Parts: sequence; C-alpha cells; structure tokens
Amino acid sequence: MRLAGKIALVSGGASGIGRAEAVLFAAEGAAVMIGDLQEPQASEVVDEIVSAGGRASFVKLDVRDAMAWEEAVSATESEFGPVTVLGNNAGTNFRVGWEEQTVEMWQTVLDVNLSGTYNGIRAAVPSMRKAGGGSIINIASSAALKQGGGGPAYATSKTAVVGLSRNAALAHAGDNIRVNALCPGHVDTPFIRGSQPHSENTWDTDIANPDNYARRMERQPLAIGRLQSGEDIAYGALFLASDESSTVTGATIAIDGGSTLL
Ligand SMILES: NC(=O)c1ccc[n+]([C@@H]2O[C@H](COP(=O)([O-])OP(=O)(O)OC[C@H]3O[C@@H](n4cnc5c(N)ncnc54)[C@H](O)[C@@H]3O)[C@@H](O)[C@H]2O)c1
Repeated sequence: MRLAGKIALVSGGASGIGRAEAVLFAAEGAAVMIGDLQEPQASEVVDEIVSAGGRASFVKLDVRDAMAWEEAVSATESEFGPVTVLGNNAGTNFRVGWEEQTVEMWQTVLDVNLSGTYNGIRAAVPSMRKAGGGSIINIASSAALKQGGGGPAYATSKTAVVGLSRNAALAHAGDNIRVNALCPGHVDTPFIRGSQPHSENTWDTDIANPDNYARRMERQPLAIGRLQSGEDIAYGALFLASDESSTVTGATIAIDGGSTLL
C-alpha cells in the first residue's frame, strides 16, 4: 500500500500507460479518478479496479479544454477529496514526417500533448495546495531526449513537456508540489498498435505488422525479448507518486529499455 491515502487524477487512464497507472495506483491504495475521452474503455478500468477492492471513478475529459480540467478536479474533490497525484498521460500523434504533416495535425498534437499537460497542472495545483502538497507525473517520451522520434509535432510537444515540467517544478516547489517527467521508449499499447482512435497509424507504422515490431525491437537494446509494457512505465510513475520520491522534483527520467543510448 505505497499510495495509501493518496487521491490520483489520471488522464488517458482508459488505455495503455494511463490504464496501467490507474490500476497500479489503485492496487497500492490510492483512490483513482480516470479522466479520458473514451467512456466505455474507462468504465471497464473502473470496474476492474472496483472488483479488485479498489476505489475508482470516471470523469469525461478532453485535456485540450481547460474548463473540463477544472470540472475533473472538482469531481475528484467531491468524490474522494483534494487531488494529491496527477498523472498526465493523454497523448496523440499522427505518424507523419515533415512532408505529410499539415498545420492542423501540428496544432492537434501540440494541443493534446502540451496544452493538455499544462491545463492539467494548472487545474490540479490549487487542489494540491489544499492538501499540503502533491506529485505531478508528466508522460513525455524518449522522443524528447533524442532527435526525431514520432515526427516533428510529436518530438516538439514532448520536448516541451520536459521544459514545462521543470518550469512547473520550480514554480510550485514552495507548495511542496513535485513535478517530474517520465520518458518512455517503445511501449506496446494501442498508441503504436493501430487500435487507438485518437492516434493515426497505418500498416507502415503499426506494430501489429511484425516488420514494424522487429524494427522497434532493434531500437530497444535491453534484451527483455519484448517491447516495453504499460506496467513498465507505471512502476516508475508509482515511485514518483509515492512518498519514496518525496525529494525528487524537476527530474526527467527515461524508462526506455536503453533506447536513448542508441
Ligand atoms: N506507447 C509508446 O510507445 C509511448 C512512448 C513514449 C511516450 N508515450 C506517451 O505515453 C502517453 C500514453 O500513451 P499510450 O501509449 O498509453 O497510448 P494509448 O493510446 O493507449 O492511450 C492514450 C489515452 O489518451 C486518451 N486521450 C487521447 N486524446 C485525449 C484527449 N484529448 N483528452 C483526453 N484523453 C485523451 C485516449 O483516449 C487514450 O485512452 C502518451 O502521452 C504518449 O505520447 C507513449
């Protein structure tokens, strides 16, 4: 029960890394509010947590909408109490290069990945102040640590999430609010498996295509015999959410099977 007494708001908790985070946080004693666009999938996660004896609920949230974030924080406070952990997981991408990328694609990726994270921090901080502190875990990407990953908008948005995390960490340190960024590598989720409606994949990029799976394995040097899972990242988030990391702030932590070493 490493998160006993914590109240977590988890964006993108219906799928992939956010889902693994929500389930693990609840198993470790946190009450979890899932904020996501995908209602049926999020309800499944809530059911899974509640059947296992945990506490969870769902609020519909489009992370691009600052007002919706404020409502999500209010809903969390009404149901469980002030937010003490914020997991910013919601993310999107169009897997295109410079030639194919449109201005609309650029804007969508920046809106979800960067503004969505900013909106979450902005909404959660007043709630965390009421609780006497908190921990914000922003999911960036190994694309922020080395050039090129995921196309221009994605790499830019994730690099900016690292900068935003450092800025917010210093700004809110006086309130005992910690802000850190995690940089996952190649994680086997619907995001890169082609089944995610908010992120476009084609057969050329989808890891359901064995050639793509193999290509990504070549870019992950650690010999674990598989790409990373959502749980691999959630365990890092668990450390950052818990009091074990009570002096860790402004950090950028790669959890990437060594992919940024290449
Ligand atoms: N999978 C990877 O290889 C990988 C690697 C590095 C970083 N990441 C990052 O990890 C995070 C989670 O990705 P994942 O792999 O779990 O993907 P996923 O597609 O499985 O989950 C993303 C979730 O975000 C939600 N979402 C998307 N847009 C939203 C919006 N506007 N408002 C609210 N919710 C929204 C989706 O509904 C979905 O539930 C993303 O920020 C992604 O960029 C993923």
